[in-house]
Amino acid sequence: MLIQNESRVKEYLPITGLADFNKLSAKLIFGADSPAIQENRVATVQCLSGTGSLRVGGEFLARHYHERTIYIPQPTWGNHPKVFTLAGLTARSYRYYDPATRGLDFQGLLEDISSAPSGAIVLLHACAHNPTGVDPTLEQWEQIRQLMRSKALLPFFDSAYQGFASGSLDKDAQSVRMFVADGGELLMAQSYAKNMGLYGERVGALSIVCGSADIAVKVESQLKLVIRPMYSNPPLHGASIVATILKDSAMFDEWTLELKAMADRIISMREQLFNALKIRGPSVSKLWMFNLLVHFLLIPLCQSVDHLSYHAETPGDWSHIIKQIGMFTFTGLNSDQVAFMRQEYHIYMTSDGRISMAGLSSRTVPHLADAIHAAVTKLK
Ligand SMILES: Cc1ncc(COP(=O)(O)O)c(C=O)c1O
Repeated sequence: MLIQNESRVKEYLPITGLADFNKLSAKLIFGADSPAIQENRVATVQCLSGTGSLRVGGEFLARHYHERTIYIPQPTWGNHPKVFTLAGLTARSYRYYDPATRGLDFQGLLEDISSAPSGAIVLLHACAHNPTGVDPTLEQWEQIRQLMRSKALLPFFDSAYQGFASGSLDKDAQSVRMFVADGGELLMAQSYAKNMGLYGERVGALSIVCGSADIAVKVESQLKLVIRPMYSNPPLHGASIVATILKDSAMFDEWTLELKAMADRIISMREQLFNALKIRGPSVSKLWMFNLLVHFLLIPLCQSVDHLSYHAETPGDWSHIIKQIGMFTFTGLNSDQVAFMRQEYHIYMTSDGRISMAGLSSRTVPHLADAIHAAVTKLK
């Protein structure tokens, strides 16, 4: 549609970007009935995808906010500390992931956030935490919210995977909406790289939810002063694609169905990998021969075969693969095992053991399961 529309121009956008795109982006993350939007308390600017939104937000805070320390989860997306440090903030970390349970270190998180100085900024992954795939439950989010508001900590949400965690755009925004509903301030960085597949178009938005409409006007004006010397104004094409889809109810519905299909496919890959690891034997052919042996020789010889486990499981508990959500699984493989899989099986992943479930298919799951099995049995 955009290409065929000959009246389209390639003029510069305003410093704050495409107005429709900004309005629709705020609506997408905060909800159409958000009180903050209805009361005009949100200042939204189009930025260069998620990274650019985080950077503009960071620079704005370094210039105008009274507390320049930002707490980021440990671990987090590798670019977070660099983006915020170069923006002029001091990055500290809070405990997030417990390697023992391969789940959330909720106690550690609460303790570290409690000991942050009043007013400090806290970076929160809105959903589908990268790299762990571990998110707080809604009850835990509520406790985090209460603690943060009681200490006047400033939430800075990073939403790079809205729709990818549960398959529902609204469900994946629940953490953010809980904080908006209490009337307090927050920053919100949105990326359309993954959920609209617009990686290279660099489409994103920064929204600042303010205490009043008056403040939102001033904040927007200051954001322009941050953006103008950085890149003057944002790119047109990607934002036009997003605005066109968000505006048109038929296209919007089609997009949400596609998102759900993507999220479901990722969930199915999790199940397939988990099941493959559960039945992984020394090798498929050996397992097949072993099964034959058990069925035709051992079973007739034994009264009871209950104690015989002839499907060798991959050692370890792999249930985190189905418990974690979103694109990534934090496998728990160590860097030696990752290197072994690279050398012996040509499987490439980050050295912290993170894999992208979106990159897997039913065809490649058996090869990955073989490699994991070999890695954890050879290198403990
Ligand atoms: C947590 C998180 N935030 C932000 C981003 C930024 O992505 P982009 O700048 O491509 O939108 C990513 C990308 O991987 C991410 O995982």
